[in-house]
Amino acid sequence: MEASSSTHPSRSGLPSSGRPLRIAINTGGGDAPGLNAVIRSVVLSALNLGWEVYGIRRGYEGLFQKDGVMRLDPKSVQGITRLGGTILGTTNRGNPLEWPVTHPDGSVETVDRSGEIVDAFREHGLDALVAIGGDGSLRIASALHERGLPVIGVPKTIDNDLEATQFTFGFHTAVQTATDALDKLHSTAEAHGRVMVVEVMGRHTGWIGLYAGISGAADVILVPEVPYDIQKVVERIEKQYEDGKPNYSIVVVAEGASPADGSPVYQEVARPGANERYGGIADRLAREIQERAGHESRALVLGHLQRGGQPTAYDRLLALEFGAAAIDLIEDGSFGCMVALQPPHILAVPISEAVDRVKAVPVDGDVVRTARRLGISFGD
Ligand code: F6P
Repeated sequence: MEASSSTHPSRSGLPSSGRPLRIAINTGGGDAPGLNAVIRSVVLSALNLGWEVYGIRRGYEGLFQKDGVMRLDPKSVQGITRLGGTILGTTNRGNPLEWPVTHPDGSVETVDRSGEIVDAFREHGLDALVAIGGDGSLRIASALHERGLPVIGVPKTIDNDLEATQFTFGFHTAVQTATDALDKLHSTAEAHGRVMVVEVMGRHTGWIGLYAGISGAADVILVPEVPYDIQKVVERIEKQYEDGKPNYSIVVVAEGASPADGSPVYQEVARPGANERYGGIADRLAREIQERAGHESRALVLGHLQRGGQPTAYDRLLALEFGAAAIDLIEDGSFGCMVALQPPHILAVPISEAVDRVKAVPVDGDVVRTARRLGISFGD
């Protein structure tokens, strides 16, 4: 496999004793459809080389728990390619790099516990780790690599917000789920002549909103990359009702979107070691649209539906390719790298570089242009 950067990673960590290589896999952060396909691909590819494979349960927690590290064989991964979730469990709470410690006076300090993870990994007799995660989990993986742990990263997230890879698995499934929901909403919106405001996930980026909004024939798509003006949104909806064809409207809003003169809506602001939680923008918009335009409006938050269910064929294939490519990287000794889709290739990219930048929707890109040509408003 080619490395996309001139910084060639260290070749270290492989046993010289002649015993089989013992690799571990874990899944960290929010789940994404396709995680199980990666696990199956890693397990079968490694077993075919005569290696041993172990699964660490719930991110890194399993390293410290009885029965938290399980041996994986072909039976453990039978039939899991089509399943959502992860057979290993995951967590997006308790970042070991910023572990919150509360002092008696109530003040909170964060400490770095990555050294304990490296020690526990070695005590389990493991040689290399395939860490499947989003930006947060990959940042942890990168820190562990800096502390001497031979790590290979596999990027996942429904948000598709990692710069180094064109797509992450899970994204297409989330888009399909959101599109299916929009398809269903058209008939009820039309029956009542209503405005339906649909909130989709994506954190700081609007990939899911953009792709599902176009595919599901929305009239308005609001994404964090294009701050909106509520008056422009209302004008687009008014135009729809004036034309009378059809006399309803579908608005897709990414959870991280915000007005040009305001801020996003949070359920929970960021705490040490945890991400902020978005949520509530659809409610706010539906109220504003009803007040300003006078059309009955309803809000729907698709939420974790977008993370569930069977991965699409595309996501399964990408996940299986990523898993096999991770084994190539271990064979090459390309530790500290993650696999990345840069069509037509799957490349090795240093994790530290890959997690550096969020991949925002290009506001002057082809997909946004297509939407504008179709008459879709971004509220700008
Ligand atoms: O990063 C994936 C994601 O689903 C985001 O789109 C969303 O903001 C967040 O995770 C939700 O996290 P939680 O599962 O902690 O509610």
